[in-house]
Amino acid sequence: MEQVATQDEAAAAVDAGSQSPRRVFVKTYGCQMNVYDSQRMTDALVADGYSSTDRIEDADLVLLNTCHIREKAAEKVYSELGRIRDMKRSREQAGGEMIVGIAGCVAQAEGREIIRRAPVVDLVIGPQTYHRLPDALRKARGGEKVVETDYAVEDKFEHLPQPKRAEIARRGVTAFLSVQEGCDKFCTFCVVPYTRGSEVSRPVRQILAEAERLAAGGVREITLLGQNVNAWHGEGPDGRDWGLGRLLFRLAEIPGVARLRYTTSHPRDMNDELIAAHRDLGALMPYLHLPVQSGSDRILKAMNRRHKAEDYLRLIERIRAAQPSIAMSGDFIVGFPGETDADFEDTLGIVRRTGYAQAFSFKYSARPGTPGADMKGHVAETVKDERLQRLQGLLNEQQEAFLRSRVGLAFDVLIEKPARRPGQLAGRSPWLQPVVVDETAGGIGDIIPVRITKAEGTTLFAEPA
Ligand code: SAH
Ligand code: SF4
Ligand code: F3S
Repeated sequence: MEQVATQDEAAAAVDAGSQSPRRVFVKTYGCQMNVYDSQRMTDALVADGYSSTDRIEDADLVLLNTCHIREKAAEKVYSELGRIRDMKRSREQAGGEMIVGIAGCVAQAEGREIIRRAPVVDLVIGPQTYHRLPDALRKARGGEKVVETDYAVEDKFEHLPQPKRAEIARRGVTAFLSVQEGCDKFCTFCVVPYTRGSEVSRPVRQILAEAERLAAGGVREITLLGQNVNAWHGEGPDGRDWGLGRLLFRLAEIPGVARLRYTTSHPRDMNDELIAAHRDLGALMPYLHLPVQSGSDRILKAMNRRHKAEDYLRLIERIRAAQPSIAMSGDFIVGFPGETDADFEDTLGIVRRTGYAQAFSFKYSARPGTPGADMKGHVAETVKDERLQRLQGLLNEQQEAFLRSRVGLAFDVLIEKPARRPGQLAGRSPWLQPVVVDETAGGIGDIIPVRITKAEGTTLFAEPA
């Protein structure tokens, strides 16, 4: 580790060199939790004197918030770093500065190895230490290669600054709020327990304060996030242990909060209280992302999902009994080690029996350090390709059928932003599809009753009802 100046000297030198605020460009890969984290990192940097830019050419600090879930996702970072290297070189030749930071799950998984492979990187910071980002940056600007991947003992959320009200308003009328992080489930294909650490729930008090702040900034819809969001629990003001269902009821009482969602949930953590919230809480949108991964009990067992296909189907029956209008979404992996044609047929079977409004499907990607990577019976890439294509064909059919079934229906839409075409506004249906209406129908932040006139691609078009 090379240190050319103390923190204070380095900061003073840079401050003397430029009067305008330093600018940060953040690029986000991966899941919604990374989207949320990128915002919180930006907030921390803004509180430290940076301004944010969406032009990488203008940035003094380039931060890549990375994803490690599949090999392709992780490798994207290195190709991006290739481009950034040239940019940094010409910046430095012109006497300027460009600090390159890697955050997120690749940072946590690979640590210092990233700097070895890509010396252009100045800073590597894991998801549990984002509150230390401003200090880490001061060191990096002083010429030190900084790696921060320890799990912090202090609660990062207590130390991360909240965005200003104007910034909340600028981000729009929908917002993410992470309530739970990490995972203790150790599915044998998955890196998340290693990149995000063990399961932690944020305290009720902290969540309510953040939600109130969002609402005061004009947010109408909040999506609670967690790798296993329905495993969230915490002590309520009544001294009892609250689950996600109870939390959702409490959040719905906040003035201004009209719609609530949550993602991603695990089938084993869907409890009665949460199912009851889908029945009784009008603000909770009738949409559920509930990954099953495979329809084969043999593969589910090898994946350590700890439930059977029938358990999943019975669970969905209970959820649909409570809320018949619910739209199902899911995740699937094809080509897990040992997956036979018959196992794959079982996956197609569970898809047919469930009926999804929308879903994500992936080819199994062997991840370093996970038990799946060492299993026997890795499936040939060509077989994975073929299975993925068949699965996606079926899922697409179901998605189209769902979209078609919305035509003629009347429901409320939250208007979020101007649509691509002038004169039109875009929002979302209760089931998360984009909905386009004429701008005369209302304003951004309004919840308006509409009737669907047609479905085109994955977008619904509507008129005021
Ligand atoms: N916590 C969530 C999933 C988070 S990861 C859950 O348990 O449902 C998001 C999705 O990526 C997973 O649902 C899975 O479908 C996919 N995925 C995870 N690891 C993968 C791997 N090694 N190869 C392919 N897909 C993977
Ligand atoms: Fe990964 Fe399984 Fe945890 Fe989901 S539940 S994050 S798939 S280990
Ligand atoms: Fe990727 Fe990490 Fe999310 S591995 S999917 S960014 S939790």
